[in-house]
Amino acid sequence: KDRVLSGIQPTADSFHLGNYLGAVRQWVDLQDEYEAFYFIPDLHAITVPQDPKELRARTRRAAAQLLAVGIDPTRSTLFVQSHVPEHAQLAWVLNCLTGFGEAGRMTQFKDKSARQGSDHTSVGLFTYPVLQAADILLYRPQRVPVGEDQRQHLELTRDLAQRFNSRYKKTFVVPEAHIVTGIAKIYDLQEPTAKMSKSGATPAGRIEILDDPAVSAKRIRSAVTDTERDIVYDVARKPGVSNLLVIQSALTGTPIPTLVDGYVGKGYGDLKSDTADAVAEFVAPVRRAFDEYMTDPDELDRILAVGAERAREIAARTLAQVYDRVGFLPPR
Ligand code: TYM
Repeated sequence: KDRVLSGIQPTADSFHLGNYLGAVRQWVDLQDEYEAFYFIPDLHAITVPQDPKELRARTRRAAAQLLAVGIDPTRSTLFVQSHVPEHAQLAWVLNCLTGFGEAGRMTQFKDKSARQGSDHTSVGLFTYPVLQAADILLYRPQRVPVGEDQRQHLELTRDLAQRFNSRYKKTFVVPEAHIVTGIAKIYDLQEPTAKMSKSGATPAGRIEILDDPAVSAKRIRSAVTDTERDIVYDVARKPGVSNLLVIQSALTGTPIPTLVDGYVGKGYGDLKSDTADAVAEFVAPVRRAFDEYMTDPDELDRILAVGAERAREIAARTLAQVYDRVGFLPPR
């Protein structure tokens, strides 16, 4: 079987609909066909300040959410990044293969650091994409299911894999981004030209999968649309309406053109209430399963320990090869 690998940061209490539709839903689907590795990148989380207690809680919450949406720990390897020290170890080696300018061209870094100012920007944030490359390359996956915003990081990962392979010896698989067009970028409800994000300007722009559906419905009702009346899919001209159509279509499985046909003669109110219903229907079983997993943190930790052990076996083998190929003297 080919492999897939992906991760989601434990930097919020709940995943949002962008995380789910853009990435995590694909993780669930890919479990059958692939040998899957899914992890919670807590090392990445601390590239910006985190409260320790909160980080620990959110790491468990992330695991419980992944299980609740259908990640099956008997088929997939589910683990926490810091439980597998090889990630940080390989990242060091890759840091030494990455150009300073190359890292400086990463747009996520440029955006975040511009917002924070250089005195508040950690070196960890600068080297974040290199750690991400290490996460991926350790497991030699063929595909990496992510949202559109991760495309550039995947390109860097591919470049680093090729660079290592040609400088030393073929060691890494050059992975491909698995990005599903149409749902790879879910937009902020209040600012439908910006991506929905955990740290977005206003919580009103986000739909969180663990939120009470009444809260989500309210946010959808207040979503920014436009002053026209017609419901059509046109991302450039009608980003807000198009975003709601994408969300509803993705959650219900009804193609966008079918939805659009059904809205002839109806208004934005109908679009919004149907979208809110679709969200409510999706989140109900997820929230129940999440609550159930959260009642037993020991069981969660046990699942993560099993995952870490499986992950380490593979990661340690790759790292040993890398250390050998770069010329480190093995300890005896
Ligand atoms: P993170 O935690 O920001 O997001 C997790 C996944 O959700 C996707 N995503 C979106 N997709 C569509 N629309 C949106 N509005 C939206 N917002 C987020 C992201 O693309 C991502 O797939 N750098 C990664 C974490 C990471 C990782 C890795 C991923 C660390 N190491 C190795 C893959 C492989 C990140 O910040 O994800």
